[in-house]
Amino acid sequence: MASGESGERSAGGTPRVDLTDESVHWNVSRAETYGGYLDLDRLLNAQHPRSIEHDEMLFIVVHQASELWLKLCLHELKAAISAIRRDDLDPCFKMLSRVSHIQTQLLNVWDVLATMTPFEYSSFRNQLGPSSGFQSWQYRLLEFMLGNKHAEFVRVHRDDPEHMALLEQALGAPSLYDEALRLLSRRGFEIPSEYLDRDFSQPYVPSKQVTAAWLIVYHSTQAHWDLYELAEKLIDVDHNFQLWRFSHMKTVERIIGYKRGTGGTGGVSYLAKALELRFFPELWSLRTSI
Ligand code: HEM
Repeated sequence: MASGESGERSAGGTPRVDLTDESVHWNVSRAETYGGYLDLDRLLNAQHPRSIEHDEMLFIVVHQASELWLKLCLHELKAAISAIRRDDLDPCFKMLSRVSHIQTQLLNVWDVLATMTPFEYSSFRNQLGPSSGFQSWQYRLLEFMLGNKHAEFVRVHRDDPEHMALLEQALGAPSLYDEALRLLSRRGFEIPSEYLDRDFSQPYVPSKQVTAAWLIVYHSTQAHWDLYELAEKLIDVDHNFQLWRFSHMKTVERIIGYKRGTGGTGGVSYLAKALELRFFPELWSLRTSI
């Protein structure tokens, strides 16, 4: 029980607090409060609907909440990549599990958003102008860190030097998967040298030798349990990412049909194409061989 609670309950079941209890922090300065610590004044004043339409608030909050979850994903992923680099897999497993759970939160937002009908969305869609999730630099950074490298996406951010620099750095750096392959190599698996030290800004091309290495891990799990566990954590993340893409596409189809996106792509046709993406292709292809 939290200090300061008397443990008694009023008739309505609400816990009573003893108003004379001096250990309760009654006089906290604004900066030291819950709201101060969390900077809630700024956070809760960052919603600026451009129309008078009721549903625009839903649209803004769902996007902002998703961006906050993306921020945490990036934080965890950065640490997970460093952990693999220093052969410290236990903390990496914990971080990747956390990423998977965050992805579940990201998936849940579609149910909330899908309560908005096409008519409700179209009532404020014009206010969005050319803005689109397509320009989310955090999303693109996440894709780069997971291994989906496409330099042309950086161009979208050319008027934003700070985020463009972050994206360029991640584009040229080894991804989570590149680090996993380097780990396999350090453990004595035959990974072609061109996969260990390459131009990491280029898209990843699946390799038969990499599949063969992962197959050994999957066929002798007792000998390579931690690598097997790593592979399955990667599959969790990839799987959840695909679910997110699919739910995004279906929600978009439900709300705007086959109209073009505000970002200028074909809309659903663009999102459907992205469903084919796999961050860790050999971990999927090996399943057919088992
Ligand atoms: C009514 C709700 C939504 C609609 C109609 C919508 C529509 C679209 C469309 C059509 C695209 C393709 C790019 C374009 O031409 O604009 C797109 C991309 C994207 N959207 Fe949404 N979206 C919605 C909600 C969301 C939410 C809640 C998020 C969460 C962050 C999000 C994140 C993204 C991202 C990251 C992309 C880029 C995907 C990629 O390049 O693979 N969208 N969206």
